[in-house]
Amino acid sequence: MSEQPMNDSKFSRYFVAMLLLMTALTGILMVLASINASEVNANLKAEKDAEITPSIVEQIAPIGKVTIGAVASAVPVAQAEEVNGETVYNGACAACHNSGVAGAPVVGKADQWTARLAKGNDTLYSSAINGIGAMPARGGQSISDEQVQAAVDYMIAASK
Ligand code: HEC
Repeated sequence: MSEQPMNDSKFSRYFVAMLLLMTALTGILMVLASINASEVNANLKAEKDAEITPSIVEQIAPIGKVTIGAVASAVPVAQAEEVNGETVYNGACAACHNSGVAGAPVVGKADQWTARLAKGNDTLYSSAINGIGAMPARGGQSISDEQVQAAVDYMIAASK
């Protein structure tokens, strides 16, 4: 190359050219970077959507199932109690009639029931519903006539 030193005008032309080149290069790099970044972002978003959406659905679903299951299973139990004499007896009557508290006729001891059975079922139902002697009406529970009668039926059947 030439040995002679650059003069000022030649230098400033090189300098401006270098500046333009570097600016252009920077611009190209920025465009490339932003294209790449938007692709990466799109990929990340797609991955997140794919990961998060099913896991949220899974986390919510069991809660819904448990709630529905509890309600659904509670209803038949309540209905079953209404007509199950043994269940009513155990809950409302057994406290006295298992052991004979206050002279209550003991369930399962036939001799204690002979005189009472002679009165007829209707009388026994109304005694149990309205109370008799030391026995409070309905055994002191807030239960329906139907439940009391079912309990009486169970007691009679278990005492014959
Ligand atoms: C607090 C104790 C107690 C509870 C609870 C109780 N009973 Fe009695 N029950 C008695 C007593 C005491 C008698 C005997 C009363 C008498 O003849 O003076 C009796 C008598 C009876 C008789 C015979 C009635 C008659 O006319 O001879 C029936 C039937 C009866 N109970 C049913 C029930 C049923 C059904 C329940 C539950 C819903 C129940 N009892 C809960 C104390 C109880």
